[in-house]
Amino acid sequence: MKSSQMLMLFGLFYLCFLQIPSSNASSFNYTYPEYNINLAPFIQRKSAYYCLKRVSPDCPGNLTLSTDGWLNISSSETQQFCQGPCKQHTLDVLKCVWYVKHDYKFDNKATIQNINETINNGCEHGEY
Ligand SMILES: *[C@@H]1O[C@H](CO)[C@@H](O)[C@H](O)[C@H]1NC(C)=O
Ligand SMILES: *[C@@H]1O[C@H](CO)[C@@H](O)[C@H](O)[C@H]1NC(C)=O
Ligand SMILES: *[C@@H]1O[C@H](CO)[C@@H](O)[C@H](O)[C@H]1NC(C)=O
Ligand SMILES: *[C@@H]1O[C@H](CO)[C@@H](O)[C@H](O)[C@H]1NC(C)=O
Repeated sequence: MKSSQMLMLFGLFYLCFLQIPSSNASSFNYTYPEYNINLAPFIQRKSAYYCLKRVSPDCPGNLTLSTDGWLNISSSETQQFCQGPCKQHTLDVLKCVWYVKHDYKFDNKATIQNINETINNGCEHGEY
């Protein structure tokens, strides 16, 4: 084998070796978890967790969606939720979770679709 071929093989090996860690653990994007797609399930869960850590001052207290699942909103709070920017924030968070893990389940077994429907139906009919 010529030394130039050796060098090329070594180069390929080196590239592969370097890319495995860099495309997984070290480049985990905490700020934009939706960019962490097609990864191992535990990284998907971790990404979803960081989606849900995105809180907004528009969503005070009980109006914040967490890993627990849907929040317990009173009817007066529902009005505040649906008419304010908190609804959009929550839908954005939900979309982020959907990007990283389509089949994400909240601790209360609610799916992304369940929560999405709760928001859409609840705000449409003035109850939930
Ligand atoms: C996360 O993704 C955003 C958008 O692509 C990018 O600007 C940012 O540099 C990324 N951060 C890390 C730590 O990869
Ligand atoms: C959250 O809901 C509980 C029960 O409905 C209520 O007692 C509490 O005051 C609410 N907290 C906030 C911050 O609205
Ligand atoms: C939601 O609030 C109602 C009334 O405060 C309470 O009866 C119910 O148990 C709460 N549900 C959850 C899941 O916290
Ligand atoms: C929520 O439901 C709306 C209306 O059905 C749909 O357009 C949207 O894509 C859904 N979002 C998610 C995150 O599933």
